[in-house]
Amino acid sequence: MENPAKILIFDNPEQLALAAAERFVEYAHEAVHDGARFTVALAGGNTPKRVYELLATEFKDRIHWSSVYIFFGDERCVPPDHPDSNYRMVYATLISKVAIPAENVHRIIGEGDAHTNAQSYEQELKLFFPGLLWPRFDLVLLGMGEDGHTASLFPGSEALNEKSRWVIKTRMDQSRQDRITLTIPVFNHAAHAIFLVTGKGKAKRLAEVLHTPSGSERLPAQTIQPAEGSLEWLIDKSAASLL
Ligand code: 6PG
Repeated sequence: MENPAKILIFDNPEQLALAAAERFVEYAHEAVHDGARFTVALAGGNTPKRVYELLATEFKDRIHWSSVYIFFGDERCVPPDHPDSNYRMVYATLISKVAIPAENVHRIIGEGDAHTNAQSYEQELKLFFPGLLWPRFDLVLLGMGEDGHTASLFPGSEALNEKSRWVIKTRMDQSRQDRITLTIPVFNHAAHAIFLVTGKGKAKRLAEVLHTPSGSERLPAQTIQPAEGSLEWLIDKSAASLL
């Protein structure tokens, strides 16, 4: 059974980031208590940056970093030192600032052949989550683009129909940039999924995503609905202005 999404509206992006960091800590405690490791797939883009900064500062001492395993929901096909690299952003804001063992960080390789790198990441995940039809992340953090995409699942893309692969190569048509993304079933097997959405520019699309029936290939963010997990939308007032 799908759980209904919880929609939470915050006065500003800072309040939203604090709430997201608080959830990260809560779910980390929950997972470590149950099974000794906390697995998280992080979002790229701008919105989660502040969350990562908070985790690396104010929240740092509330997390047992050696039990945290970092994965990525998607990556841009660029080297890890490129300004567009999600790994670069997460490394700068979080990974380089906390005592997480290097072997706990599983980046998606952006340089080289995208298809091969997608396959390698799938293999890496299968080794980490052995014997499972789908991996079960304790937490996936997600953003939403102004066109309704999430991770690198873009409107109308073939990637939206993927039913067996865990990781695939895809492409952002506007920038013609190759991307690598986890697939919809992977996100939908997570224990907790959290969307972070801020800014007036996203208000119209967000209202469509949350208030129109799901199932359209036009609004990939609607496809994220963990079957046995929680789904929360953390939204700031500006993005929520048309809800
Ligand atoms: C990426 C993402 C992507 C992002 C949205 C929102 O690598 O770009 O994972 O799905 O979350 O595009 O991006 P902003 O937070 O920058 O608006």
